[in-house]
Formats: sequence, structure tokens, C-alpha cells
Amino acid sequence: MKLSALIFFLSVLAASPEIENGHQLWLRNHTAKPIRVVCSKQSATLSIARQELEQGWQGSVGAEVVLTVKYDQSIKGDGYKLDTLSVQASSDLGILYGVYDLLRRQRTGQPVKAVVSNPSYELRLLNHWDNLDGTIERGYAGNSVFWRHGKDSMTVTEQDKLLWQEYARANASIGINGAALNNVNSSPQALARNTLMKAKAIADVLRPYGIKTYLSVNFSSPAILGGLRTSDPLDADVQGWWKAKVEEVYSLVPDFGGFLVKANSEGQPGPQDFGRTHADGANMLADALKPHGGIVMWRAFVYSPEENDRARQAYEEFMPLDGQFRDNVIIQVKNGPIDFQPHEPFHPLFGAMKETSVMPELQITQEYLGQSVQLVFLSTMWEEFLNSDTYRQGEGTTVARCTDGSVYPQKNTAIAGVANIGLDANWCGHDFAQANWYAFGRLAWNNKLTSEDIAEEWISLTFSNQSEISNNSEWHKHFLIPVKHMMLQSREAAVNYMMPLGLHHLFAGDHHYGPGPWYAPKNIRPDWTPAYYHQADTNGIGFDRTRAGSNAVSQYHEPLSSQFNDLETCPEQHLLWFHHLPWDYKMKDGRILWDELCYRYEGGLRQVREFQKVWDQIQPYVDGQRFAEVQRRLRHHVRDAQIWKDGCLLYFQQFSRRPIPHNIERAAYDLDQLKNMDPRNPFPKD
Ligand code: GCU
Repeated sequence: MKLSALIFFLSVLAASPEIENGHQLWLRNHTAKPIRVVCSKQSATLSIARQELEQGWQGSVGAEVVLTVKYDQSIKGDGYKLDTLSVQASSDLGILYGVYDLLRRQRTGQPVKAVVSNPSYELRLLNHWDNLDGTIERGYAGNSVFWRHGKDSMTVTEQDKLLWQEYARANASIGINGAALNNVNSSPQALARNTLMKAKAIADVLRPYGIKTYLSVNFSSPAILGGLRTSDPLDADVQGWWKAKVEEVYSLVPDFGGFLVKANSEGQPGPQDFGRTHADGANMLADALKPHGGIVMWRAFVYSPEENDRARQAYEEFMPLDGQFRDNVIIQVKNGPIDFQPHEPFHPLFGAMKETSVMPELQITQEYLGQSVQLVFLSTMWEEFLNSDTYRQGEGTTVARCTDGSVYPQKNTAIAGVANIGLDANWCGHDFAQANWYAFGRLAWNNKLTSEDIAEEWISLTFSNQSEISNNSEWHKHFLIPVKHMMLQSREAAVNYMMPLGLHHLFAGDHHYGPGPWYAPKNIRPDWTPAYYHQADTNGIGFDRTRAGSNAVSQYHEPLSSQFNDLETCPEQHLLWFHHLPWDYKMKDGRILWDELCYRYEGGLRQVREFQKVWDQIQPYVDGQRFAEVQRRLRHHVRDAQIWKDGCLLYFQQFSRRPIPHNIERAAYDLDQLKNMDPRNPFPKD
């Protein structure tokens, strides 16, 4: 569908209250009560705050609400102070955040009395993996909201601006304050004049909502775009090229945030192409950005096929550089050491780099977690990650505290999430995928929130009518509680039916959707095949990362290192991540490993079947369109879970040579059928 037609369609839908297509996200319209807003200052951001109050007020009729921009010791950054009828902040943006919080509390029935709220991270960014031709890498909700294909790709229409404004509003309402507009696998064209003009148009719309614009850049831009003979970061012409380019960017976008860089990773160019280090590359860009207040987010997602354990590589490459980066460089590290898998231990770089700013990168888009088909609430995974104890400065030095400035005096604190947003009417494909966008923003603002609270908020905002939210309403009992329970279990279910007990990267092919522990096309790099990770043979299964194996355990601080190394103390959820074990290894519950694997896979499938039942029961409490849409996806979800269970168990059984325990459901598919099936489209029509 053409963008203009789509926007028209969306605005018609949005205007009719009885149709819920998900486009309004957690900001659904409710009839507002009259209110008088008092604010002595004026700005575009404050006007939005005022308008939000006038259009969304659910407090007492005719109330007077005072907005005050005034320094207060208890308020940090864009934090705020709330009371029933007042919002105070040190910045206009703080007022806007406070207003969104006030309205959220009204709409979810949370108390408002004397609240002070300060952000955990100063920079809270979405990373869009959007290509300049409008496609999205690992995007499952349609094409890009920013870029499009064809000759009018760089033109900007009024409909574009409307959509960007809705996008900005949704982000601001959960505290997100930055957006990297293009894919980390960046085209050098990202810095071409016409792209920058479009970035300016986007930045102009996002600005009043407090969202800064960032761009992903290609390290070879000086040579490819600028025509220089090299992109060597120590070359004076290259440095001059970046300096001039950065000046051009700031002349168009004066509050530009900075660059996001994927270098020497998965074929992307980088400083190592010229015999230089990551620090040489990052610092060169940082020097160009520094006079303008910009930053460099330099990704640590690096690995090469030559190494015997991919999980060790980023740590090995980056630790020797600790202390060598400029203070406007932040090293952006994925939550786990491999790649956004359903379950990983935290990345050992967290807490380990003491002289360098480090920021977590989470993946909101469900690349490895069922994409837009499976209902998986990622907040529990992020909560577990943020609360992981690194022990780097003693007990309690969690990943959250090692990155939010509580443990190390980082100049900048930041967190990024790879966005799951596209042109689909509901932005995210699956209605429940909106919860992951929401959860990311809420955790970036407050990394101590619990997933339970986040889920409860999101469900109330996304599905309830104002009259329904009280704790003893029917809606609360029959909708909120069961749906929340389902969401909170959903990630664990996915781990169970995909890769339990520390298994990882069992996907069939580059689509990263269905199972393929057998996947090994000719001439492919071994580290791009599942066998590299599961190492299954007749003796057992799992990757030996103990001191006797790859010794990845040594990258964790004590007591973790020994805990992971020792079978007695290694948490079962990490078992096969760190250990290669015989099929008859005795688990804590007395079962042998093979049987335990079978029960886990089966357990995951059962959990998803329960989700179907839960959803069917809540039908009276949800609008027809979203009910039917989620129901349809849950059917696919169950089918996928079955395919995962059958595929993995039948494949591994060839090595375990043991029966599947008698009380486990039999396979619905056979292995050859599964090996030849496209898991994204298992039953083509003919
Ligand atoms: C994964 C993903 C790629 C992406 C990469 C990255 O490998 O599959 O599409 O480019 O991560 O984070 O850079």
C-alpha cells in the first residue's frame, strides 16, 4: 500500500473510537475532564505538555495544574517532581515527562502523591536498523517509517511528518530521548547531502518531543562517499573529511546526537582494515564531534571465524583498550556475548571496562524470539540481565549499576534498544510486541522497575477503559491478571521450546526463525552453523567454556567465574552454555540430561497452548479486531513451538540414542519433513 493511502487509512481508523487497530499504542484516547493548566514559560515542548493535559486529564473536574520549570536539588537531568496538581522540573522536557507520568498514573490508578522520578540513563535510544531504501534489517512490522524506496525516497510529505510526530510522542511518553535513524550496517549514503536533508526534516519533527537524532555511519565513508584514497583514521585528509562532514551535519541539525558505528564486524569496514585499533577509529570520530557536543556509540559486536569461541572475542578485543577512548565515546555492548539469543549470560564486558563508558544494547525487535508471530514479552529477560551481579566491585555491582553511573563515574550513561517499529498499522506487527517497545522505554528510564509492574501498566493503558481499572473490577480479575501472567511466562516458554538449559543459536539459516540444529550448508563459516554452538555427538551436548575448555568463564569476575566453571554451582539455565555434558548426566531433579531436555521442550509447548486458552477466555474483555489478530498469531505460535520441540528432540535423539520419555507427547512432524520445511511458511498452499 502507498504511504499516503496507508496514512489516510490509519487516520480514519484512529478517528473512530470503536475500532481498535493498535495504532494508538498505550496512548489511546479517553474523554478528558476539563482542566486549567498554569505555566509561566512558553516553548514548543511545554505546549505539548499543556495539550496532553488538556486532552487526557482524568483527575478532578476543573482542576488547576501548575507546571514549574525550576531547579531543585532532588531533580536530576530531565527528571521531575509530581504531585496531584503540579509538575516541577529543571527543563521543559522534564515537565513533559512529568505530565506523561501524571496522566499514566491517572489512567492506571497508581497514586500520584509527592513523586520524584529521575532517569537511570541520561541517553535512552532506539536504534533503527532501517535501510535507506525503506526495508528494515530484522524488521517484522513493515517498511521503515523514515525512509522509502524509489525516486521520491528523500521527499518529505505532510503525512510523513504526522507519522513522525506520532512516533515522537509515543517515545517521549515513555522517556526515550534519542533515535539512530538508520541501520548499523550503514550505507555510506547515510551521510550524503540528500540523506542529511531528510534527517534534518525528521529531527525538526522529533525535537519538541526531546528526541535527538543520531546516524549510523559507514567507516569507509571518506573513501566511498568522499572519494579519498583511504579511510585510515590516522590520515590527516580523512580526519579533515570527517570534521567537515560533521560540521555540515550540525549546520542542518544543531542538536544532532552523534554517530553509531559498527566497525570490523560482519564484513563492515573499520579501523583494523588500516592496522589501527577500535580506539583509533572511535577517537577520530569523537574528536570531530566533540566541539559540537556529539558522541560516538561504538559497538563491541565483533567476532571472527578464526577464533575457537565466539563468546570470548569482544572481551579480548576491547579489554586491552580500556582507558584509551575519548570521554565522548561509549562502547555499546549487546546484553549477551553471542547475539541476542533467547537466553545468554550477561556479556563479560559489563563491569569489566572501568575506564571507559559502556552502554547496554538490547534488541526489541524479536529477531531470535519469534519475530512478529510469537507472543514473547522481553521485559523479564532485560530485568534478569540488568539485575545480573557482575561482582566487579563487590557484591551488588549489577549490570544496571555498572552502566548507569552508580559504580563508575561515566561521563555519559546510555542504553539502546533495536527498534521493532515499522509501517504496520499497529507499528509492531504483533499487538503484544508493543509491550516490548514500552518496556524498553520504561526500563531505560528506571532500571529498577519490575516486569510485573511494567506489564500491568502496559495492559491497563493498552486495553482497559477508564472505568475498568480498579483492583476489584471484573476486567482486572478476568483480563489483567491472566494476561499479565501469560506475558510474564512468555519468554521462559520461548526458551523452553527453543533452546533450554543454556543451548543457543540453533536456528535454521539466516532468517533466525525456526529450528535447525542440523543446519550446515556447504562452505558456510562454522560459527554460522548451530553445530558450532551445541556440539552434540554421541558423548553429549553443550559448549565447554570451562577452564578445561575455551575458558570463557575466566572473563567473569569471581565468584562467578568459579561458579560457572563448577558443575555443582553452575545455574541450570547456563548449563550447556558453559559445559559439554554426557546425555546421562544427572540433573538436580534426578532426571538424566536427555530426559530433562525432553521435558523442557515439551514444557515450552504446553505453556504456549495454555496461552491460547487464556486468550480465548478473555474474549469478552477485548475489542474484536485485536482479539482475532492475537488469536490468529497464537495459533501460529503453537505450531512453531511444536516444530521447535519436534525438530530439536528428533535431531538430538540421533546422538542421545535414548527414547523420548513415555509421558511426553509424540512428535507431530518427522525430522526429514522438518529439515526440508521453510519454518516461516511450513504449509505452502501447493
Ligand atoms: C545480528 C543480526 C544482523 C545484525 C547484527 C548486528 O547478527 O542477525 O542482522 O546486523 O546482529 O547487530 O550488527
